[in-house]
Amino acid sequence: MDLDQQFALPRGLGGALVGALMARRHGPQIRACVADLAPAAGEHVLEIGFGPGLGLAVLAGAAADLLVAGVDPSEPMLTSARRRTRRLGSGVRERIELCQATADDLPWPDGTFDGVCATNSVQLWQPLDASLAEVRRVLRPGGRLAVSVLQQAVLHDGGSAGPHYDDVLLPALKEAGFTEVQSDWRPVGGSRALHVRAVSPQRA
Ligand SMILES: C[S@@+](CC[C@H](N)C(=O)[O-])C[C@H]1O[C@@H](n2cnc3c(N)ncnc32)[C@H](O)[C@@H]1O
Repeated sequence: MDLDQQFALPRGLGGALVGALMARRHGPQIRACVADLAPAAGEHVLEIGFGPGLGLAVLAGAAADLLVAGVDPSEPMLTSARRRTRRLGSGVRERIELCQATADDLPWPDGTFDGVCATNSVQLWQPLDASLAEVRRVLRPGGRLAVSVLQQAVLHDGGSAGPHYDDVLLPALKEAGFTEVQSDWRPVGGSRALHVRAVSPQRA
């Protein structure tokens, strides 16, 4: 399996090594995405495509008494994230729930979450429209979505998101019914990342 495929869906020992690389490289971008989500004390929040689990740890420390859920389809990423979140203090790790799943089939009832975030995973969601509809379903009305994608983030079919990924993602979010869609490109680690915020509509 080549390196791009390992970034898209980490497998085996190679996947675990790629996960360690992600955790080293993506910290500033992940922290910015969590800051965009701005979780408030006591909220229930979900990270989709958590990879090695750094975002889960950042989320868990972002406000008091958060309930944090995460999904990722990759077995080695679940193992890495479980290891990372087990190291968090008692009283924090018990508030984190991890599931093996993809964005198009989220194992929670309608309106479960106040906020959803995803770093370098939305470009892998297949199909994108069904996945965004699923994210909207699990968000409560008025719930927030924050996503970030590196310009060089790997796509599911190879290649990279590229400098115009906003032309793909923003119309898809609007088509899925999200409102207050805002975006900007920010420099990070010698590259650029697209940051997008959106809100689930108050009424279906
Ligand atoms: C490039 S990694 C990003 C990991 C982490 N969020 C970060 O920024 O370091 C992409 C992650 O998305 C996961 N992924 C791939 N397809 C997915 C899908 N359809 N739904 C949710 N997650 C997916 C992969 O297993 C992988 O852990």
